[in-house]
Amino acid sequence: MEWTREARYQRLAEVSEDIYEKLVTQVADSPYRQKFHIQPKTGLLNDPNGFSFYKGRYHLFYQWFPLGPVHGVKYWYHMSSENLVDWQDEGIALEPDSFYDSHGVFSGSGLVVEDQLHLFYTGNTRTDDWVRIPYQCHAIMDASGNIVKADSPLISDSPAGFTDNFRDPKVFEYQGHYLALIGAETSEHEGKVVYYKSDNLKDWEYQGIIGTKSYPNAGFMWECPDYFEQDGQGVLLFSPQGMQAEGDRFQNIFQSGYLLGDPIDFQTGQFDHGAFQELDKGFDFYAPQTMQDPLGRRLLVGWLGLPGVDCVTDDDGWAHCLTLPRELVIENNHLYQRPIPELKALRKAHHRYSGDLHEETIDFQDISRTYELKLRVTAEELEHFALTLRKGHGEETVFSYDHHASKLELDLRKSGKTVTAEYGRTRSCDFQAEYLELHLFLDESSLEIFVNDGHEVFTSRLFSHQDANGIQLTSKGKVSYVLDLWEV
Ligand code: FRU
Repeated sequence: MEWTREARYQRLAEVSEDIYEKLVTQVADSPYRQKFHIQPKTGLLNDPNGFSFYKGRYHLFYQWFPLGPVHGVKYWYHMSSENLVDWQDEGIALEPDSFYDSHGVFSGSGLVVEDQLHLFYTGNTRTDDWVRIPYQCHAIMDASGNIVKADSPLISDSPAGFTDNFRDPKVFEYQGHYLALIGAETSEHEGKVVYYKSDNLKDWEYQGIIGTKSYPNAGFMWECPDYFEQDGQGVLLFSPQGMQAEGDRFQNIFQSGYLLGDPIDFQTGQFDHGAFQELDKGFDFYAPQTMQDPLGRRLLVGWLGLPGVDCVTDDDGWAHCLTLPRELVIENNHLYQRPIPELKALRKAHHRYSGDLHEETIDFQDISRTYELKLRVTAEELEHFALTLRKGHGEETVFSYDHHASKLELDLRKSGKTVTAEYGRTRSCDFQAEYLELHLFLDESSLEIFVNDGHEVFTSRLFSHQDANGIQLTSKGKVSYVLDLWEV
């Protein structure tokens, strides 16, 4: 079907039950439905929103257009969980039904204050002439899950010096005040994060731009800002649009990364930081959001997808999913991302294989379609090592480490279906280690690979043939390996 403007702005309530049920059935029949990732029942999912812990449960919302795999008028869809593994479907949380969010309930965050979960988001609106006016909005959820929107928005339009790309409020408490970070594009088309201050969550005062160092290739718009401090360091996360590829880096259509440095001085906005680092080295990762949970952990969930590109499952009436939750830990000036231990609850049958390899290949056939896998490779001298997954039917997905080149590489050239070949089918990053420890989660149509305790992560969708289930290890130098696989 053709996605006219009219079709993109059609509300769920405007289609008949029959038509919607047909879409539900079409999506349910998709061969690429995930087993243990949050995915939309129909239509398109994008950013995680409102990630929080309230009344004994984790709450996670996501951007949703119900009626097809396109960026139409957005809703917030609500999931909740006690353990971050078993998610309960809580249905639609926020609908685009107010004057200040008529063209989409866009991204934002959640903050628990006293007995309520406060939700902050951008209301996207368009005038009759299709001029965009962004509003920063507020809604409150109570213990029984009722959500009430405020009568009027908190912040109307963007301040002087900024375009209409002004959105995604991240609200948090900081030294006795509330701060809201907002992603912005200046009139000179530079991406920035700005911030507002409040003492009551209702009246917000513009403070200025976060004073990041200016550097080339920074992009024109920084979406979905987030910030946290850990062990005396500050981390500013955002998703810049408009960066150019540089060697192995920034190969996706849009990026997502962070600046690590001293804590931001919110009196002046000053931020001393190092170079912009990509969070994820894979093909499909964007707009992550973090929260601090009751255990004190900094958790992150991202969108396992990207704006501006198609998805293989578009033909099946749905697109995209969320990543598994990761814990963020700063060690030795590096941001590690580690899968949370709760994910062990997914584990079913366990298989273990171990041995030595030298100038050879070993095959494991048809153990499982979806799994968690841990592989430890040690060597006197690690030369070139490859783990091949989803092998069969002429397909294979290869993750390798080349010690000589000091590179990790994910090769999806033979991985099955793709609709984004123009962005290349390999991703690499610099890496040097004397051993290799891969920890990965393979769902029906996604792969998340954590390397050496989360030093690097590669996250990608994968649309492989049903019969491509072989696993293979290949080594040049002499290595010992231990492979643990849990069916999921
Ligand atoms: C990021 C983003 C946000 C916006 C939302 C709309 O993917 O563009 O900036 O709030 O998606 O769905």
